[in-house]
Amino acid sequence: ATGSRETLPPPETLDQVESGIAQCRLCPIGELCTRAVMGEGPRDAGLMIVGEQPGDQEDVEGRPFVGPAGQLLDRHLARAGIDRSAAYLTNAVKHFKFVPRIVQGGKRRLHQSPTAKEIDTCRWWLESERRLVQPKLVLALGASAARGLLGKTVSISKARGTPTTLEDGSELWITAHPSYLLRLDGDAAEQQAELFARDLAAVRSRMR
Ligand code: URA
Repeated sequence: ATGSRETLPPPETLDQVESGIAQCRLCPIGELCTRAVMGEGPRDAGLMIVGEQPGDQEDVEGRPFVGPAGQLLDRHLARAGIDRSAAYLTNAVKHFKFVPRIVQGGKRRLHQSPTAKEIDTCRWWLESERRLVQPKLVLALGASAARGLLGKTVSISKARGTPTTLEDGSELWITAHPSYLLRLDGDAAEQQAELFARDLAAVRSRMR
C-alpha cells in the first residue's frame, strides 16, 4: 500500500490486513525494520488487546508481545485469569520504530515512540482488525494504543478504571503499557503493578 489510503479498498479478511501491512508505506517506519507484525489470536476473539508497536524481539520473531513487555503482560494476564490464547493481540502501529545506536561496543536498536501522525495513519489497519474480529471488549495498553483506538490523545491516569463505549458498541478499557511498569522500581513499581492488576481484573469481570 503506497500513496493515498482513500484509493485503497478496505480489507475484507485478516489475511488481507496481513499482506497490506507488509507492503504499507503510508508512513516511513516500515523502511528500516525487518517486517510488519500482524495481530495474533482467534479471529472471533471476545477480547482484543492493543499495544503500541512491535519491539526489537517482536520485529525479529514476527509475533506481538514476545519480548520483555510481553512476558510481563503474560504474567499479569495469568494472574487475572485471562487466557492469552483466547485473546487477539495486536498493536496500534504495525512496524518497529527505532534508532540504531552503538551501546558498549554492540549495535542496538533503541525503541522510539511513534508520533501521533504515525499512529493516526496506522489506525486504518487497527480499525480493519477491529471490524473483522468484532471483539466485545478492547484493552488499550498505554497512550499510543488509546490514541489508535480513539483517534485522540487521552491521559491514562484519567481514563483508566472506567470503560468507554466505542462506536460499534464494544467496551474500551485503557490501562498503562507493561513497558512502563518495567521502567519503574521500588514503591512506584509496586503501586503501578497493583493498578495494572486492578485494571486487568476489571476487564476479566466483563468477560463471559
Ligand atoms: N510492546 C508493544 O506495545 N507491543 C508489542 O508487540 C511488544 C511490545
